Amino acid sequence: MSDQTCNQAAKLRVVILGSGNIGTDLLMKTRRSPVLECVLFAGRNLSSPGMTKASSLGVRISDRGIDAVLDEAAGWDLMFDATSAIDHVHHWSLLEKLGKMVIDMTPSRVGAICIPAINLADCLNQPNVNMITCGGQASMPLAYLIGQTHPQVDYVEVVSSIASRSAGPATRLNLDEYVDTTSGALAYFSGCPKTKAILILNPANPCINMQTTVFAKVKQPNLDALKPLVAAMVTKIQGYVPGYQLLVPPTFENGRIVIMVKVEGLGDYLPRYAGNLDIINCAAIAAAEEYAKKKLAPAGPAPDENCAADGDYSSTHNT
Ligand SMILES: NC(=O)c1ccc[n+]([C@@H]2O[C@H](COP(=O)([O-])OP(=O)(O)OC[C@H]3O[C@@H](n4cnc5c(N)ncnc54)[C@H](OP(=O)(O)O)[C@@H]3O)[C@@H](O)[C@H]2O)c1
Repeated sequence: MSDQTCNQAAKLRVVILGSGNIGTDLLMKTRRSPVLECVLFAGRNLSSPGMTKASSLGVRISDRGIDAVLDEAAGWDLMFDATSAIDHVHHWSLLEKLGKMVIDMTPSRVGAICIPAINLADCLNQPNVNMITCGGQASMPLAYLIGQTHPQVDYVEVVSSIASRSAGPATRLNLDEYVDTTSGALAYFSGCPKTKAILILNPANPCINMQTTVFAKVKQPNLDALKPLVAAMVTKIQGYVPGYQLLVPPTFENGRIVIMVKVEGLGDYLPRYAGNLDIINCAAIAAAEEYAKKKLAPAGPAPDENCAADGDYSSTHNT
């Protein structure tokens, strides 16, 4: 791997660690990016479906996991960790000293939590950015708006259902971490300390689309303020997750605000039902592309850090 330095002509060189559902879908999305190039796809099993796919695309692969990533540290600028929460804690203990940006796809709670539609600019200066969870990416912007428009929220609950087929072994291993990380982020973004996250792995065949419902217990609902903000937020998220759709706009029933969304995927790796891969991977690509634009920008006036928040994402649409 050459030791080139980032410049205007180059793309940001990224490494993907973890060759499962999330890692392989990420690989497909980086290949469409005008500013990212995957220079290494690392895992631990050369004959896994993800490794086979990467190899067939001519991408460099290694089964030496974090050792390959560390050995070739001079040749990459940003790493996505798509392994598991416990593995990420170990990887970060080795990566931190390199001073390179790491985007964590696992619910490890190590890095700064990032929802591109809310706080992307703040995260770009952090060395370790955590994309929370799929249900977190789908629900957090809605819970945030409920918190912004209601001075008192007594309880927030988020229920996501995804197709069982799209949850790899590491997702299953990380179900407890999913609940903790999503609940913690809900409290952070909504301002309500009492929260609960629930994830359903639905075994139905044919597979179901990802769907997420946000419930918020409030005494005095302000739907007039909330509805236009939710509509604008959905449009903003569609700027980087094209398949994000509002199924049930803010509604008040049984003392709770209810909002329901569905996420259809682009079908990059698994079929389109697996919107759970897209909601977190498109968010991670949006963060990486914004970081790349900052790093690759020629010296001069500082770029507008808010451009991503305006929906300026170029590679998420499957054209
Ligand atoms: N699937 C989703 O909907 C989803 C959504 C959001 C976030 N996530 C999170 O993303 C992570 C990955 O989920 P997934 O569904 O993609 O699971 P997965 O299909 O099991 O993928 C994990 C991959 O990482 C590899 N791996 C694990 N530990 C490793 C290590 N120490 N070194 C190198 N490679 C290692 C595994 O290798 P082997 O092939 O040898 O097992 C596997 O290929 C989990 O933390 C999950 O919670 C998943």
